[in-house]
Amino acid sequence: MSGSDASVLVEAARAARTRAQARYSGFKVGAALEAEDGTVITGCNIENATYGLTVCAERVAMFKAVSEGYTRFRRVVVVADAAAPPPPCGACRQILWEFGGDLEVILANLETETGRHQLRDLFPMPFDAGNLD
Ligand code: THU
Repeated sequence: MSGSDASVLVEAARAARTRAQARYSGFKVGAALEAEDGTVITGCNIENATYGLTVCAERVAMFKAVSEGYTRFRRVVVVADAAAPPPPCGACRQILWEFGGDLEVILANLETETGRHQLRDLFPMPFDAGNLD
């Protein structure tokens, strides 16, 4: 594993994944967001019979964190049971950027970490508050 140790965050995301509500897709995802003070806030995907109201693990984690008063973040881990775990979807990239800025995005599966990216590279031309000045 390269870079700083993310094992606590990875384990938190794996634990959150076990609480996923994924009865339609069967694809369980966990996320763990690290706030600047080191607090870990987790999320899992929560699906809905209407499908479209499904919320991804990353957004659940970020909305929980914002609602608890956290405003600055360092990194987020996303875990799925896949050889190549998913990077955040477009909607999640927008939300992570809005509230977390250029987070480090760490991908992992149930066995190992599989990749690290900066959010600015995954989301290179954002529409954000700067466009509303
Ligand atoms: N999902 C996430 O929770 N995060 C991702 O990064 C990709 C997709 C969820 C949404 C849906 O519940 C399931 O995975 C299949 O798309």
